[in-house]
This record gives sequence, C-alpha cells and structure tokens, in this order.
Amino acid sequence: MTIDEKATERTRARYQRIAPLYDAMEILAERRYSSWRPRLWSLAQGPKVLEVGVGTGKNMSYYPDGAEMTAVDLTPGMLERAKKRAAELKVAVNLQLGDAQALAFPDASFDDVIATFVFCSVPDPVLGLTELARVVKPDGRLLLLEHMRAGNEVAGTIMDVLNPAVVRMTGANINRRTVENVQQSGWQLEQVEDMGMKGVFKLIVARRAK
Ligand SMILES: C[S@@+](CC[C@H](N)C(=O)[O-])C[C@H]1O[C@@H](n2cnc3c(N)ncnc32)[C@H](O)[C@@H]1O
Repeated sequence: MTIDEKATERTRARYQRIAPLYDAMEILAERRYSSWRPRLWSLAQGPKVLEVGVGTGKNMSYYPDGAEMTAVDLTPGMLERAKKRAAELKVAVNLQLGDAQALAFPDASFDDVIATFVFCSVPDPVLGLTELARVVKPDGRLLLLEHMRAGNEVAGTIMDVLNPAVVRMTGANINRRTVENVQQSGWQLEQVEDMGMKGVFKLIVARRAK
C-alpha cells in the first residue's frame, strides 16, 4: 500500500483553510459530541496513548490522568491551535505533525491509539488503520468515535451522491464504511455501539489482531 501524496496534500490544504473556523463550525455538532468524548476516553487504559488527528485539541480535557500522551495531526494550522489549547489547559502532551498513513513511531510503541472524527478524512483509511495497528503493542487497543455511511440503503445512496460536494466543503467523507475498514486493517472488533442518527455515529473498540 502506498500513500496517495496528492490526495493527502489536498486533505492537508482543506484543513489548513478550515483551521481558523473549525471550532466555530463545530459548535452545534459539539453539543452532541461533548458527552461522547469523555465516554470514549474513559476506555483508554494507557499508560502510553497516541491520539491521531488531534485537530484543535478538543479531547484534551479528557486525557486520562497519568497517561503518557502523544498526539499527531496532518495539518500545521490545526496543530498550532492544539498547542495553544494544551498550554491554556496545562495539559502535558507531545504534539507532533504526523500522517496516520505513515507514522514516525517504532512498531508496538503505544498501549492505546485513539481518534475522534478523523477516519472520515484520512485519504486512505485502511492504510491509516493498518499503520495504527503497527504502532500499537500486541495486545493494544483502538478506540474510535466516527461518523460513517448509513446502514439504510436509501440513506447510504444519498450520502454517496452528496459525498464529493461535502468533501470539497468540509474535508470529511460522509460515506466511509469505517467498521469494515477497521476489520480489514489488522484489528479485531470488540465493541461497536450506535451513538446516534440510526448508526451513522459509532463508538468502536478493537484489539490488535494476533
Ligand atoms: C474533523 S477533524 C477532527 C479533529 C479532532 N479529532 C476532533 O475530534 O475535533 C479531522 C482532523 O484529522 C486530521 N487528519 C486528516 N487526515 C489525517 C492524517 N492522514 N493523519 C493525521 N491527521 C489527519 C485533520 O488535519 C483534522 O485536524
């Protein structure tokens, strides 16, 4: 599997444009997400935890006490905002630029890898999820909150039609098959929980496949 450099650059450029507006754009959605985030983070056991696609750092308030936190993002403008938030909240986190599809960490570096609303925009989600399985320890876990293609065929087909326009506007694909992508990427599903909109939003827990 090789990285599609052009698609990755397009994703970075979109989020670089969106970065100054991201928190404002998400205000309404955040009402829904703000109860889901602590729930996901309560499942992280650590001690070494990697957050992928940290964005502007909206998860930082929920980082587990005592965890050794590392967080990466593809987009400099998002990472700058995350650094500012970490300083404001006095959160200890090693923040780095990084691509989920090719991480600069040795194999088996982390106990948990965690991401919220990221695999809708990683250009090759299977490549990214496979890379997460590489950097997690043999018994390590993947914790995700994601939106994905609706299971209902009519709604799913509408999402397929709208997807190109939504990607151009927001950087996010609305028709990813994220549960299937996780299963194809070296992970064994442990928990898939519908969080809302008839399963469009899901909390996913998976363990690195033996
Ligand atoms: C919708 S935002 C979510 C940000 C944050 N996780 C949150 O919950 O608010 C998606 C983030 O994923 C990042 N991203 C997209 N592709 C990535 C990749 N290949 N590697 C790392 N980060 C990526 C974007 O730069 C952006 O910050």
